[in-house]
Amino acid sequence: MSKPHILILAAGQGKRMHSSLPKVLHPVLFHPMLHHVVDLSFSLPHSSVSVVVGHGKEEVIRSCKGYPTLQFFEQKEQKGTAHAVGVAKDFLKTVKGHVLILSGDVCLLRKESVEALLEEHFGNKSALTFVTTHLPNPKGYGRILRNEKGSVTGIQEEADATEAQRKITEINAGLYCFEMEALLSALDKIKSGNKQSEYYLTDAVGILIQEGKRVEGFPLADNREIHGVNDRLALSVAEKILQQRTNERLMRSGVTLHLPETILVDPKSEIAADVVIGPGCLISQSHIHKGAVIESACRIHDCRIEEGAHIKQGSYLEGSRVGRDTKVGPYAHLRPESHLSRGVKIGNFVEVKKSTIGEDSKASHLSYIGDAEIGKNVNIGCGFITCNYDGKKKHKTVIQDEVFVGSDTQVVAPLTVGRGSYVASGSTLTKDVPEDSLALSRTKQENKLGYAKRLRKQK
Ligand code: UD1
Ligand code: CA
Repeated sequence: MSKPHILILAAGQGKRMHSSLPKVLHPVLFHPMLHHVVDLSFSLPHSSVSVVVGHGKEEVIRSCKGYPTLQFFEQKEQKGTAHAVGVAKDFLKTVKGHVLILSGDVCLLRKESVEALLEEHFGNKSALTFVTTHLPNPKGYGRILRNEKGSVTGIQEEADATEAQRKITEINAGLYCFEMEALLSALDKIKSGNKQSEYYLTDAVGILIQEGKRVEGFPLADNREIHGVNDRLALSVAEKILQQRTNERLMRSGVTLHLPETILVDPKSEIAADVVIGPGCLISQSHIHKGAVIESACRIHDCRIEEGAHIKQGSYLEGSRVGRDTKVGPYAHLRPESHLSRGVKIGNFVEVKKSTIGEDSKASHLSYIGDAEIGKNVNIGCGFITCNYDGKKKHKTVIQDEVFVGSDTQVVAPLTVGRGSYVASGSTLTKDVPEDSLALSRTKQENKLGYAKRLRKQK
């Protein structure tokens, strides 16, 4: 099978979204819908992948910086889908073969379906093969016109359709595979004499058929895949479909999801067997290893959670690593670049930022650990604060192995607490503590006997 060039149309504004964000950047399950289409494209056989951008092009191009080989063509004015393909014409003339055209707002297609389309197209040696499906409510889609023999004769856009045509439930999915010569010749012939004064790519169907070329509609059984996002309602439907698809795959592979309809896991996360995820969790771009437990209402983004870790209710974790058998939460916050080793315990209302915490160390309650390097077997009492910011710069705190830090302690960084030391409760440390010492920095207690009693009498 020859490798097609893949062209994604994404220049439209998406007026029906009523948004300042370009339509194709609206997220579906945490990722801009365009990225789902780009990921699909790179997973298919391809000679190159490019995107037609226009509305909000800077933003769209910026969002794609994770795809270094992606190419862009600019459509300065959005005059319709055929016009959009037209802006890549000079490039298409230089590449031979076939071109697969996808829409940036049809983001639920599965790889297997597109592969089946390509197989059909190449097998039949067609000039054009395009995907159709049946929708009980076809509103907004182009309708497939067929003659008495059942052969496709054209596509009619809804705006231009008669009442009778609007009743047709077979629709155009917006997914086409063209033989290059056929596409280029059709583009030259498409006119904008329709209700929307646009150049419709869908007109290529009728044009090529009239020229006697082979054009096939390729029906797809699962109509959820071709769901196009034109407004916010359709956006929510797309998210629901992708959520169900992803969660079903996870459950089939051995992941327990409690109330799966309340759990959002993006398709880019890897979740191992025997992971248990509670209701209301949101998980994106993360790897969760075997046997980890994620209790309800946790948000986990860009994290690596090792085997047997336990993330308790209501915790928020981003850009972090959680070691084997480590416990986090309830209600803990791991900010980016936090690395917790094996057997660590981070308890309720503890915030960790850009810090490493060594094996078996604990911070069980109410603390802020920022820009710190904490060794093994360290015990951090309740109400500990790294004062890491002087208003201009961030400074580092180092707490070496086996240190015991009493409750209500602040360390004014930069500062090192040496191995095996004790820090007395209520201390404010402003200088380094040598190994195996006791650091104590609080005013001595004075008891005034009977004073309270006298005060009470005065009142
Ligand atoms: C299009 C099809 C319709 C099909 C539907 C499937 C046409 C004329 N109609 O309609 O038959 O049922 O998709 O979802 O093709 N775009 C550009 N430049 C433009 C116009 C559009 O890049 O000038 C891009 C959009 O960003 C979008 C895609 O092309 O990603 C489709 O455009 P849209 O306006 O959403 O077309 P539909 O009305 O949905
Ligand atoms: Ca659309």
